[in-house]
Amino acid sequence: MKLCSLSVPARSVLVSALAIGGLLASVAPAATASPAATKRATAPAAVLAAPDISLANVKAHLTQFSSIAAANGGNRAHGRPGYLASVNYVKGKLDAAGFTTSVQQFTSGGRVGYNLIADWPGGDPNQVVMAGAHLDSVTSGAGINDNGSGSAAVLETALAVSRAGLQPTKHLRFGWWGAEELGLVGSRYYANNLPSAERAKLDGYLNFDMIGSSNAGYFVYDDDPAIEQTFKTYFAGLGVPTEIETEGDGRSDHASFMSIGVPVGGLFTGAGRTKTSAQAQKWGGTAGQAFDRCYHSSCDTTASINDTALDRNSDAIAYAIWELGT
Ligand code: TRP
Ligand code: CA
Ligand code: ZN
Repeated sequence: MKLCSLSVPARSVLVSALAIGGLLASVAPAATASPAATKRATAPAAVLAAPDISLANVKAHLTQFSSIAAANGGNRAHGRPGYLASVNYVKGKLDAAGFTTSVQQFTSGGRVGYNLIADWPGGDPNQVVMAGAHLDSVTSGAGINDNGSGSAAVLETALAVSRAGLQPTKHLRFGWWGAEELGLVGSRYYANNLPSAERAKLDGYLNFDMIGSSNAGYFVYDDDPAIEQTFKTYFAGLGVPTEIETEGDGRSDHASFMSIGVPVGGLFTGAGRTKTSAQAQKWGGTAGQAFDRCYHSSCDTTASINDTALDRNSDAIAYAIWELGT
């Protein structure tokens, strides 16, 4: 576990006094967060434990995506006003938290689309860890699981980076993609327009598309082994079994990064495929029904979100960013 690296003096991550107190308390139960304990930990830089991402905060973003859809013809689809409103919502949160944001424009199907990129200042510019999610919905609904869930969880993880005042070893970048539902258009545009020198700096891309499916499974992409293992370790710690993701290889934005040679990974709770009885036994839920009963339909609302799955996956994202980035 990461706490072992307390003994490694070469770590460059700086942590707040408050966090140090908590960290020490968990290493040595006798030590309370006293001023003495705080002082003791400031000498060799220590590694922060990943935060527990607040489900309530993630769901608050979903509520905003819902309202945005409701105010814009019922969806957040590419080329529709609900998409740009979604970009502006996420961008506003990131700007206020100290990220350097940029909006990349592209055209697809005769309509303008946007990717939102947010860089957390600092870290080794030659070692970039990136996490992303598609922000567009299909036209038939608000797209709260697909993919408000990944968008909100990545946003909340980025905000947690800011709240922690994280000074990671690696450079952290977050991305929200447009026009995924038209065939990974936005992420492909971003990846294909990244200069080769910039591609080489990308240590990994982590993708989150549908992570709160109503009848959830716990699927981990089996692409880059180190990223895969990071997620498996997290879920093993929770005692939640995982399976390799097979429903949609190449069906989300990680494929755009894979095709330019970037190591990728990610999480998924299932779409239209049916949960087997073996899967229902280990994960709960209903055998013989789709993982997401509202996949690509108008009932993909906040009411169809599985809170437990969304919470676990949100925490797993933060864990992976802290593990792989710091
Ligand atoms: N992105 C797909 C969509 O929106 C959903 C999907 C299917 C998926 N299989 C996947 C996402 C596997 C991530 C991984 O239609
Ligand atoms: Ca949590
Ligand atoms: Zn979709």
